[in-house]
Amino acid sequence: MSSHGDPIPMTSRACGPLRGTAEVPGDKSISHRSLILGAMCIGETTIKGLLEGQDVLDTAKAMQAFGADVTDHGDGNWSVRGVGVGGFAEPQNVIDCGNSGTGVRLIMGAMATQPITATFTGDASLNGRPMARVTDPLAEFGCQAVGREGGRLPMTLVGARAPVPVRYTVPVPSAQVKSAVLLAGLNAPGQTVVIEQEATRDHTERMLAGFGARIDTRETDEGYEITLTGQPELQPQHIDVPRDPSSAAFPVCAALITPGSDVLVPGIGLNPTRAGLFTTLREMGADLTYENERTEGGEPVADLRARFSPDMHGIEVPPARAASMIDEYPVLSVVAAYASGQTVMRGVKELRVKESDRIDAMAQGLRANGIEVEEGPDWWIVTGLGHGNVPGGAVCASQLDHRIAMSFLILGMAANAPVRVDDGGPIATSFPIFEPLMARLGADVSRDTA
Ligand code: S3P
Repeated sequence: MSSHGDPIPMTSRACGPLRGTAEVPGDKSISHRSLILGAMCIGETTIKGLLEGQDVLDTAKAMQAFGADVTDHGDGNWSVRGVGVGGFAEPQNVIDCGNSGTGVRLIMGAMATQPITATFTGDASLNGRPMARVTDPLAEFGCQAVGREGGRLPMTLVGARAPVPVRYTVPVPSAQVKSAVLLAGLNAPGQTVVIEQEATRDHTERMLAGFGARIDTRETDEGYEITLTGQPELQPQHIDVPRDPSSAAFPVCAALITPGSDVLVPGIGLNPTRAGLFTTLREMGADLTYENERTEGGEPVADLRARFSPDMHGIEVPPARAASMIDEYPVLSVVAAYASGQTVMRGVKELRVKESDRIDAMAQGLRANGIEVEEGPDWWIVTGLGHGNVPGGAVCASQLDHRIAMSFLILGMAANAPVRVDDGGPIATSFPIFEPLMARLGADVSRDTA
């Protein structure tokens, strides 16, 4: 079932060259953070290029429930009139974060050190995901959480009345956990310290600094140590949201596998904590170039040019790169199917607790479409058949996971028989313009009629 309605079965068929410019939507991670940090300032934050996917819309609604004034001015322009650090009101109703792990975990962090109670829920996917990874560190600030067995949603959090600062080493590579602790630290006195062994996306740190908080990262023997000084007066900002590299991955990978393609994907953020997929594709022999490299809003940005690459080969993806491409493994496994030889992906057990178990979801669908996949608890190997040899022809379950649905639709673009997904509805959570954007490039992706 789709996250917000009836299932939308979709089919993708082999198509001619993909050509043109793919203007993908705003970055999902930065969009969530813009709304949440905007809600934690006094005054008006303006946002241009906000991702208007369901995940982010659910966060906008949540910020309103906590007392911020969130306004949609049209065309991706939004404003947030915030209530200040520590100024959240108690929501009158349950907060429904839909499909979004980022939304719920960051919002839990932001409210955990405020003297209010809130109950959170989500769709079947989100309600199956682990929340203890966030509520454990939040308990150290003095926040209590009661949820279902295994720390699952629905869950009620009672924010700390007299929060204390925390020093916390994140046990799994997770920007959501790191960010939840930092957002909680905003309303705690003194210094909150988060230590992560592997660098994960650093948007929260960069944006907190931009909003005027004191925050420093230094490399120590324990890992990256991030120190935030609590109770700052955050200053409202104007935010230009860069386009999402995780969404850019889909037209880029589609172009690489579809004969004759030449696609430009402009204005993509290449923050090193996010750009691992593009490095990996280039190592596989992809004709993927960075054009017009520049810096925007303190972030490296480039226009990506992807051309059909019939001679890609499998590689062993360095596990140290996993955090910088964690959302891109599903679509990488599709490219791997069209490459020759094995693509080996290790150190990726986090994939098992995303919107779906992404190793299992991709392995099942790839096998059904004639691709060999081996898997273990934290690794998987895809044996590529090379261009022109991918059978296709199967129906794949998207498992309420936008990236699984889009990955299988990309698989169908160069397969010998159409590839179908049982429900494309979840695509709207992160990439609401996926269908018209791919159609304009020349893809043959359609909704099935009953
Ligand atoms: C995100 C962090 C990642 C990523 C998710 C967005 C974020 O999750 O998978 O799509 O915006 O902080 P984890 O923190 O669980 O690694």
